[in-house]
Amino acid sequence: MTQRTQVGIVGAGPAGLLLGHLLHLNGIDSVIVEDRSREHVIDRVRAGVLEQGTVDLMHAMGVGAGVQEAGLRHEGLYISFLGQRHRINLTELTGGKAITVYGQNEVVRDLIEARTETRRPLYFEAEHVGVDDLDSSQPLIRFRHEGMDHELRCDFIAGCDGFHGVCRPSIPAGALTVYEREYPFGWLGILADAAPSSEELVYTLHERGFALFSMRSPKVTRLYLQVPPSESIENWSDQAIWDELLRRMTTRDGWTPNVGRITQKSVTPMRSFVAAPMRYGNLFLAGDAAHIVPPTGAKGLNLAASDVLVLARALKAFYERGSSDWLNEYSDRCLRRVWKAQRFSWWMTSTLHRSPDETAFDHQRQIADLDYLTSSPAAMTSLAEQYVGLPMDVSFESVGLNECRRN
Ligand code: FAD
Ligand code: DHB
Repeated sequence: MTQRTQVGIVGAGPAGLLLGHLLHLNGIDSVIVEDRSREHVIDRVRAGVLEQGTVDLMHAMGVGAGVQEAGLRHEGLYISFLGQRHRINLTELTGGKAITVYGQNEVVRDLIEARTETRRPLYFEAEHVGVDDLDSSQPLIRFRHEGMDHELRCDFIAGCDGFHGVCRPSIPAGALTVYEREYPFGWLGILADAAPSSEELVYTLHERGFALFSMRSPKVTRLYLQVPPSESIENWSDQAIWDELLRRMTTRDGWTPNVGRITQKSVTPMRSFVAAPMRYGNLFLAGDAAHIVPPTGAKGLNLAASDVLVLARALKAFYERGSSDWLNEYSDRCLRRVWKAQRFSWWMTSTLHRSPDETAFDHQRQIADLDYLTSSPAAMTSLAEQYVGLPMDVSFESVGLNECRRN
């Protein structure tokens, strides 16, 4: 079966779904091709922290009802070290901005619903997905769906298929420069049926390693522990996870997470990765397909959103005015913001984790870094403006949306 579309989108994660909806709002045709099932994509437990700009964007796109109803707006966060929690007031330091805790799976569920309402195509469980003719004016996406082979001719392909997708590896060797750093640790993450014992996130540096307190709802706590990178989840009984979490997180004033039944647990490796440029011919990479940050800064999903906003702007300029200027600037515009988020995520990660090869000097320097951070208004302001999100390079008006702040 042969089909044609303006923009072929590979991947129905946050990047692909947000892009599809932005294009829809601008009357640009797209087909989304996803290799996993709808249930798998919705149930995958990942990010939780949305920047102010990401939440504003969802409202402006008309997909903000879920986040408005169930999102938890946080006006501050805690940094904990030497047994003491220190609050950073995000809202006061950023002229009124905040972050919102709302699970990535909820974001994806809301966007799939919005896509379904548009009646534009979204194929789940596509097999043998491949891309071809990338440097031609009609690049191709091939896939098999419900036993039928499909050929999708596009003006452009958006590679939104995450770090392990097919788009980036289809670019000829030598056309991309890769910048990469692996970390000598990973995160063991759990979801627990326990009411959050703090209304805000707590990032902890303990002498036994990093720990993070977060949440998903008034009844569900989300917690993370630094573990060795290749740690097997089988090595961790629920009891051992709680013992270690409480050991690292309990502060001298007696604050501690509430314990409850663990409903999900997994280990994630940590890496920083950038492939540049984010374009080859008429293939444009967006989100995790082009870059990965270690999760400590909570930036990955938010970068996916800012990339596709720039891409939508560029495609709108092409279809409305025949101008390729924005397409040509796409990679450079995205990478400026990506590198700042990379720097922030690397800094948060290296300041809050213990490295197997660190010296006693390095650890004292980390403590001094955190002491400075939590006692200097200048340092707190710097963290706050990055944590709530640096400005996006494109105004909402330029992609036909009204600027709005609803939470
Ligand atoms: P993905 O979400 O990976 O989506 C890619 C899609 O493409 C997937 O649906 C995949 O199935 C599909 N796909 C893959 N290969 C193919 C193929 N061959 N053909 C068709 N489809 C394909 N970010 C934050 O902003 N805040 C946080 O708090 C945060 N916390 C995190 C915590 C953890 C433990 C982890 C692991 C990540 C966290 N992140 C966070 C990062 C965030 O989850 C990612 O950056 C985000 O998912 C990127 O979205 P994406 O759409 O680019 O890629
Ligand atoms: C969550 C994840 C993060 O990576 C982070 O920095 C903060 C919170 C979360 O899943 O809630």
